[in-house]
Amino acid sequence: MNHSLSIKHNNSAPAAQESVLEIWGRASLKGHVKISGAKNSALAIMAGSLLCPEDCRLRNVPALVDIGMMGEILSALGVKLERIGDTLEIDARHLNNSIAPYELVSKLRASFFALGPLLARMGEARIPLPGGCAIGARPVDLHVRGLQAMGAEVHIEHGMVHAYVKGTLSKRLKGAKIYLDYPSVGATETLMMAATLAEGETIIENAAQEPEVTDLAGFCRAMGAQIRGDGTNTIVINGVPSLHSVDYPIIPDRIEAGTFLVAGAITHSEIILSPVVPDHLIPVIAKLKDIGCQVIAEDAHSLRIVPGNLLATDIETLPYPGFPTDMQAPFMALLTLAQGNSAIAETVFENRLGHVPELNRMGADIRIKGNMALVRGVPILSGAPVMATDLRASAALVLAGLAADGKTTIQGLHHLDRGYENLEAKLQQLGAKLQRVPIDAESEVESTSEVTTELSEVSH
Ligand code: EPZ
Repeated sequence: MNHSLSIKHNNSAPAAQESVLEIWGRASLKGHVKISGAKNSALAIMAGSLLCPEDCRLRNVPALVDIGMMGEILSALGVKLERIGDTLEIDARHLNNSIAPYELVSKLRASFFALGPLLARMGEARIPLPGGCAIGARPVDLHVRGLQAMGAEVHIEHGMVHAYVKGTLSKRLKGAKIYLDYPSVGATETLMMAATLAEGETIIENAAQEPEVTDLAGFCRAMGAQIRGDGTNTIVINGVPSLHSVDYPIIPDRIEAGTFLVAGAITHSEIILSPVVPDHLIPVIAKLKDIGCQVIAEDAHSLRIVPGNLLATDIETLPYPGFPTDMQAPFMALLTLAQGNSAIAETVFENRLGHVPELNRMGADIRIKGNMALVRGVPILSGAPVMATDLRASAALVLAGLAADGKTTIQGLHHLDRGYENLEAKLQQLGAKLQRVPIDAESEVESTSEVTTELSEVSH
């Protein structure tokens, strides 16, 4: 019954750890590319299934390493999972454990999203504290403070977050008014899920407005939760005693879609992508237009990128509906080839410029000043051996490799496989010249700066 969930890359390709991606640049792309379900929505919704004492069917679930890991964490909590194509059957009725295993959680930050639903459903939860990662310290103080406001006792000892509902006959959390110091996506999702089964009303102010938060709210509503205001900065949840089974489609991945729009722009190619929700990409489309490209909504679910001369522009990453931090690295790759100087300010994460030295290895001219990258456009990039330091940095190196003269060899593909489903197969289908090869076939690969590896092992 239980098809294993661990996600294998397409069986023929060597596993990420011992393979590199070779890209021969300057090939123009054309045609249509299918956009997969949203990683950051699927991860939160899989955690949300812990709220439900009946079975949940999720559709359009991307085949990604992170999804496989979240599945293993749910299994360790007693949840039954079965994957058939891009559909995931989840049965959390026999949830029998409220302790998530360190060896799994330490590999996947998003597993911390299980804290809220477990606490709401079981009255208690023990989740290892997710450490920092390549892009920042990633504290969880807003999650913890919100749960405490809902009446939970939360102790952090020996790297473990132990949360439980104090005293009271009913092990239910209590509704509360919570103001978030920062519109954190994760904290909003944790508290919104916890509040679905709490007694009374919860109001989350300065809430995150990301489409993935709205998708999670849609999933919870489909299970019978009472939530309104998602997609605005104030979310109101009226707790219900329990939830019921659901059949729910995950939204398309706006970051994967944004990455392919940049692939069209950086290779001066016209490509069509679908399914997408154009409204989710407003800040991305606006910047592509500033850069000189056209982005046309072919219909309600597809976009066409028409390339133009690349003009410099300034970017500041912000919470949604501002410019997404997850698109910062791909756009930096694009702006390395723009006419003029661009200033890129990363304001969401304190250490998300790890791709700069690698792009400079390819002939880019980027200087870092605090959280700002000053990008002087150059006429051409040249292929080189480079190292991916995190998920979106790996996408930026693939994009730069598509535009560069000669061969680029990318190491650290385990980052890519966490967040992009079959990226190279999709690019090959559009006409890109790239292949994944085992390292020993590439042994002469000049190893780039080792230091970058240690930091970058934890997934986002
Ligand atoms: C989600 O991370 C996404 N991950 C990230 O995508 C994305 O970059 C981020 O939102 C912002 O859009 C998933 O959904 C799995 P945050 P999350 O809480 O929830 C600080 C990718 O590439 N903060 O909004 O962890 C935090 O340190 C990944 O797919 C606190 O200070 O992001 C950061 O500086 C990377 N205290 C800022 O808020 C807290 O308790 C934004 O973090 C929580 C967060």
